[in-house]
Amino acid sequence: MTLQNTSDQWGWLSKVFHWITAVLIFIQIPLGYYADDLKLSPLKIDMFVWHKSIGMLILMLVILRLLWRIKTTIPSAIAGTVLEKSLAAAAHYALYCLMLALPLSGWVISSAANFPVKLFWLIPLPAISGPDESVKLLATEVHEVCVVTLILILIVHIGAAFRHHVLLHDNALKRMWF
Ligand code: HEM
Ligand code: HEM
Repeated sequence: MTLQNTSDQWGWLSKVFHWITAVLIFIQIPLGYYADDLKLSPLKIDMFVWHKSIGMLILMLVILRLLWRIKTTIPSAIAGTVLEKSLAAAAHYALYCLMLALPLSGWVISSAANFPVKLFWLIPLPAISGPDESVKLLATEVHEVCVVTLILILIVHIGAAFRHHVLLHDNALKRMWF
């Protein structure tokens, strides 16, 4: 397995980025709903420190991943109709946008709510907005819409990966696996 992607295989760095981010997203979504549902308590505050820290880690990984994506080759699209290829590309593009929009809107919620964040209880996160109730409400709306959109696209994304593997027997899933 090479570091760089080739025209028909993902390299190990792209795979590591994909699967670490996937695991973090699978933790982050239920954690967000769980923390949001808790009554105000030390547990809720701790769960939000985890949520915000993991979210910012996802943001950093996505930025590095996109920089790497610009630098390296992108494997050619899996065989399929023009429509299938366009939908897959649109879904991947949307996933990248959501992985940027979610942490950024979350960061705005915390800043506008005047709730400073310490990443993993260690590194203080600077505010990216002054305290402002209407900005907080707007960012909360954006965060919620992005979460639901992410879940819907992921259902299609994961369904498509398994359709290729189980029904079409091509290498779509294998070339993203180790
Ligand atoms: C069980 C879970 C998942 C499976 C089986 C899966 C499978 C795959 C596969 C097979 C590809 C490669 C497609 C190709 O070669 O054309 C891929 C690409 C991609 N996946 Fe996933 N994925 C999963 C979870 C996720 C999650 C949680 C995210 C992020 C929210 C994600 C984001 C992406 C993105 C952005 C690409 C495009 C890569 C690029 O073009 O740079 N995936 N996924
Ligand atoms: C990919 C990253 C992220 C995902 C998938 C995610 C997901 C979620 C989910 C599922 C919820 C509960 C439902 C909702 O209220 O929308 C939530 C709420 C929340 N998240 Fe995130 N989040 C991410 C990143 C962040 C970051 C980086 C921060 C802050 C720095 C953050 C701050 C918040 C806050 C403050 C709430 C409560 C919003 C409210 O009052 O309803 N999130 N998030």
